[in-house]
Amino acid sequence: MITLALSKGRIFDETLPMLAAAGIEVTEDPEKSRKLILATNQPDVRVVLVRASDVPTYVQWGGADMGVTGLDTLIEHGNAGLYVPLDLKISACRMSVAARADFDYAHAVRQGSRLKIATKFVGIARNFFAEKGVHVDLIKLYGSMELAPLTGLADAIVDIVSTGNTLRANNLVEVEQIMDISARLVVNQAALKLNREPIRRIIDAFASATPQS
Ligand code: PRP
Repeated sequence: MITLALSKGRIFDETLPMLAAAGIEVTEDPEKSRKLILATNQPDVRVVLVRASDVPTYVQWGGADMGVTGLDTLIEHGNAGLYVPLDLKISACRMSVAARADFDYAHAVRQGSRLKIATKFVGIARNFFAEKGVHVDLIKLYGSMELAPLTGLADAIVDIVSTGNTLRANNLVEVEQIMDISARLVVNQAALKLNREPIRRIIDAFASATPQS
């Protein structure tokens, strides 16, 4: 049995055509039930639905043989025990620094001010500001990051930007881009050794279905 970990929503939806390229069709609709294990048309392949931030954990510890996860989540988790064969080029967005329009971020950075940064992505934020030589206090949040500069909790946030609508709706501006993000295929290294042939087949099919840049 090959178990593939996916998170509901964009990653699930955008992974379906890649599974189809491998001849795999998920036969249950995750929006229509609360089932967490979904069967496919292949008796030896199943999909498990996990929180996006848990995908690398499931794959690292063998709860799933492979999974699809955002580069942001993967960097925060670390690569231990994981083989990352493919950038699937789906779920594309970017990681950025954002602040209130009336906060002079560039000036604060030039002055060497100590910045308060709220984020769910503490590892990415720490590395980014360390490389710039900017001193920061990192405030860990689990969601609604946009509120932090509006309430005075932080000077700026490090968060995912896709359309930019969430920032605009909350009168925040993107002041710096940190990195491009897209989804990666991750594979448990031990599972790859044990089940090389079927896993390789899925990796190759995903590679053939990955949009070319
Ligand atoms: C992300 C991110 C922003 C939003 C950006 O949140 O944290 O809030 O998407 O997208 P936009 O630029 O298209 O408006 P998400 O909806 O993934 O939920 P989360 O807060 O649980 O991460």
